[in-house]
Amino acid sequence: MNKMVVLFVLFSCFFPSLFAGEYDQLVLEASSRMLDSDYHAALELYRQAFIAEEGDIFDLYNAACAAAVCEDSDAAFMYLEKAANSILIEKEWLEEDEDLLSLHADNRWNAIVASIDSRMDSVLASLPEEHPEDPVIELPQPRLSSDVSVEEAMQNRRSFRFYEDSPLTITEISQLLWSAYGLSYPVENAPDFLRGGLRTAPSAGALYPLELYVVVRNVTDLDPGIYLYRSESHELILITGEDSWEEFSEAGFNQLHFETAAAAIVYSAVFERCTDKYGARGRERYVCMDLGHSAENVYLQAYALNIGTCAIGAFSDIALKQVIRMTRAEVPLYIMPLGKV
Ligand SMILES: Cc1cc2nc3c(=O)[nH]c(=O)nc-3n(C[C@H](O)[C@H](O)[C@H](O)COP(=O)(O)O)c2cc1C
Repeated sequence: MNKMVVLFVLFSCFFPSLFAGEYDQLVLEASSRMLDSDYHAALELYRQAFIAEEGDIFDLYNAACAAAVCEDSDAAFMYLEKAANSILIEKEWLEEDEDLLSLHADNRWNAIVASIDSRMDSVLASLPEEHPEDPVIELPQPRLSSDVSVEEAMQNRRSFRFYEDSPLTITEISQLLWSAYGLSYPVENAPDFLRGGLRTAPSAGALYPLELYVVVRNVTDLDPGIYLYRSESHELILITGEDSWEEFSEAGFNQLHFETAAAAIVYSAVFERCTDKYGARGRERYVCMDLGHSAENVYLQAYALNIGTCAIGAFSDIALKQVIRMTRAEVPLYIMPLGKV
């Protein structure tokens, strides 16, 4: 995620808060000055904001950028060191952010990059090699017909960021998971890579590199927690029964969706399933094409169930991996929040 995306996310978070407090007003104004490239004014506004309140991670990060462009390296490092304490700040942003170029030659820069590296290593080391096999929750069988036509769903599907404060049902979650990656053509004695047969979404070489999780917040007949979807048996495997919604929302930069969503599907991919056969073409094209096919199914199915969703690509990879307890080999790709609309 680059800084423009950080600013977009910040703006979208502040959008409904017209009556925000002093800190919020100051950082909103500062973000706006940043977008106009008026870095001196932005830096001054951030300074005032941090007197009013302790800085939020992304405000500190943006303040560091403003200070670096203004060649105030002491201020830039002071803000950057505080921001880099958070798992949400990733090394790639720092290295790719042109605003921070003036800091690269300073020893303090290497120290920050090294501290992020070592944090990454310890998070990765804490992740499992494999998922548990149980306990298993059987999902209701999906229905195969509806009153909503594919044409109607394609015409009316939209990305929703606010949802009704009401629960989803396990039947709806089951239907959405089936539409995303469920088995639609079981193959007896299928080769191992096929894992049970062909699915509702196409996949290059039928290699199915995606993994799907459900983060449950408010679903009838399904306790809050995180579950892994097993397509071949149309079951959920409990990953954790802890309510992790707050950390999950943070990993998604507290975008608006998390305030009201009742659940979310999280996609990851084991790239090697595809790249072992297709190499760079698999890495650069096929895995994300597979993701797009599956996610569009979720959009269309959600519309038919009167459920809203939104494809979210902006999140912290490492924080999301940690909160979901993905295996080391997985790369997180999408969050799709779900809620009645
Ligand atoms: C790859 C990708 C990443 C996206 N990431 C986000 C995101 O992080 N946050 C968000 O609110 N919407 C996100 N969206 C949703 C788009 O903003 C949305 O699809 C676009 O505004 C068009 O609106 P529509 O889906 O209602 O047609 C993403 C969409 C795609 C395809």
